[in-house]
Amino acid sequence: MRRGFNPSLLPPHPSQGNPMSIEIKNINKRFGDFTALDNLNLDIASGELLALLGPSGCGKTTLLRIIAGLETPDQGQILFHGEDATDTHVRERQVGFVFQHYALFRHMTVFENVAFGLRVRPKKTRPTEAVIKKKVHDLLGLVQLDWLADRYPAQLSGGQRQRIALARALAVEPRVLLLDEPFGALDTKVRKELRRWLRRLHDEMHITSVFVTHDQEEALEVADRVVVMNKGKIEQIGTPEQVYDTPETPFVYQFLGDVNLFHSRVHEGWAEIGGARIEAPNSPNETTATVYVRPHEIDLSRDASDSAIAGVITHIRLLGATVRLEVEVAGHEAVEVELTRERYQDGAWRVGDPVWLNPREARVYTAG
Ligand SMILES: Nc1ncnc2c1ncn2[C@@H]1O[C@H](COP(=O)(O)OP(=O)(O)OP(=O)(O)O)[C@@H](O)[C@H]1O
Ligand SMILES: [Mg+2]
Repeated sequence: MRRGFNPSLLPPHPSQGNPMSIEIKNINKRFGDFTALDNLNLDIASGELLALLGPSGCGKTTLLRIIAGLETPDQGQILFHGEDATDTHVRERQVGFVFQHYALFRHMTVFENVAFGLRVRPKKTRPTEAVIKKKVHDLLGLVQLDWLADRYPAQLSGGQRQRIALARALAVEPRVLLLDEPFGALDTKVRKELRRWLRRLHDEMHITSVFVTHDQEEALEVADRVVVMNKGKIEQIGTPEQVYDTPETPFVYQFLGDVNLFHSRVHEGWAEIGGARIEAPNSPNETTATVYVRPHEIDLSRDASDSAIAGVITHIRLLGATVRLEVEVAGHEAVEVELTRERYQDGAWRVGDPVWLNPREARVYTAG
């Protein structure tokens, strides 16, 4: 039986209702000749759940480590709640963190792992044994694993280990929670469950959380705002809707979902692909352009049309609720089209069928 999330299990939290805002100002970080963070600026609101999203090597972990105080920037400043924390030691930052392959202490039980941060406190702020016991059990209740208190890490599943790591990070009452791909190593179903659970936990704990992922779906589903990073810089910051619906750069467009690319040219406010004409009102005349169309934004028709793109279906893949069709188009790379199962069945599409493609939505980026 699975227990639901129960906020009343929360331990009393001195910092509750007092999360921290974080300002990152002109941060630069180099490793030798390599620029890992390139003059980065970012304001994180108090109580926000922010996702850092970007490809491998773009600087996500480096930024998180700088926020935590585990890494020093070469230039720039970090403010915690308006106060300069650039030189504040990691222990004084009131930050809790969970890393991707976060090793629990193997020789300690789950209970002792969670209690660790409290036990190592200086004597005058260390809670009594009875308080530690209550607190650890409350936290284990919060992550819904109270019944595993006496087990050792090796006797837990991957998802359970990550939840214990989270309980351990929360034990020290952080005002900021930093998570570096905490669910990266888990299978899709467990990940999905844990990320919804994390969202609820964040809301109940009243903390500021920064969450690193390279999984766009995870970022879009969980975060209040998404920061899309590329090569040590921020490409775009916005709500999930903003970054998905109005990507400011081709990089963001491509990173946030599958996309078909068409090379074209803008002529008097229109870009042509095959017979289809895409409005490009802001593009200079006679410039080369790339047109981006998401696979689910293409309509298929059997009726020949000189305002559509002619092609032939070469592959059909059933993916649960949706169906992916690959369409060969003369002079272009194969085009991916995604249909709902229903629309696919209504169309009775088969491999070898000639089709006409109509982009419903498209975005035109001109060079420069
Ligand atoms: N200690 C280091 N010494 C040298 N180079 C480093 C060091 N730490 C990070 N880098 C480099 O800085 C860049 C950014 O690394 P970082 O770990 O921040 O990337 P990331 O976005 O977290 O990637 P991933 O998704 O793979 O975890 C990488 O090119 C990495 O090789
Ligand atoms: Mg990383």
